[in-house]
Amino acid sequence: MVDLLALSAGVFLTLVVVVFHFARGTDRVIPDDIADDVLEHRAATVRETDFPEPMNRSIGGGAPAGAIAGGADAEGELEGGEAVEEEPSPAEIPEDEVEYFEVEYTKEGTTIEVANNETLLDAGEDEGWDLPYACREGQCVSCGGHVADGDAREFVVHDNQQMLDEPELEDGYVLTCVAYPKADFTLETRETP
Ligand code: FES
Repeated sequence: MVDLLALSAGVFLTLVVVVFHFARGTDRVIPDDIADDVLEHRAATVRETDFPEPMNRSIGGGAPAGAIAGGADAEGELEGGEAVEEEPSPAEIPEDEVEYFEVEYTKEGTTIEVANNETLLDAGEDEGWDLPYACREGQCVSCGGHVADGDAREFVVHDNQQMLDEPELEDGYVLTCVAYPKADFTLETRETP
């Protein structure tokens, strides 16, 4: 004789298995990489800070990398809106934008073409002339020269010269180690104020 209770239990369990088998799951999709899921959740919930966090939090939060550079942004503006005037060095003029000027070196008896990304001293040395110099950084007057045509600033760009004052520049004096031509002119080397 069949045990009615056992039969009922068996049928019930079978039905339960069938129902679970055909039941739909949730709509949640399990991502292939669970780490991305965690990071996105973290980015959405972790509060932003003022500190730059270059490596330890790749999604969300953190200040832009520019904030690291001592308060000046790429356009050279300090915090508080104060503009920084930074003249690029003529030495950085790329070759495809270079202009050439005729410079007559009177004492050497020759006129040569000097690129506007080359100093008067370098150009003279390229010719093989033994021109005077010491620091080559605009901090002495060993390399001094004189523009015969007037105010030196109309004919050369000084890259960070620290020795010549206003009247000396007006009189045409240049420091050839940091002077780049911007016009044609006549130069007397070995001249100091
Ligand atoms: S060599 Fe010193 S300023 Fe030119």
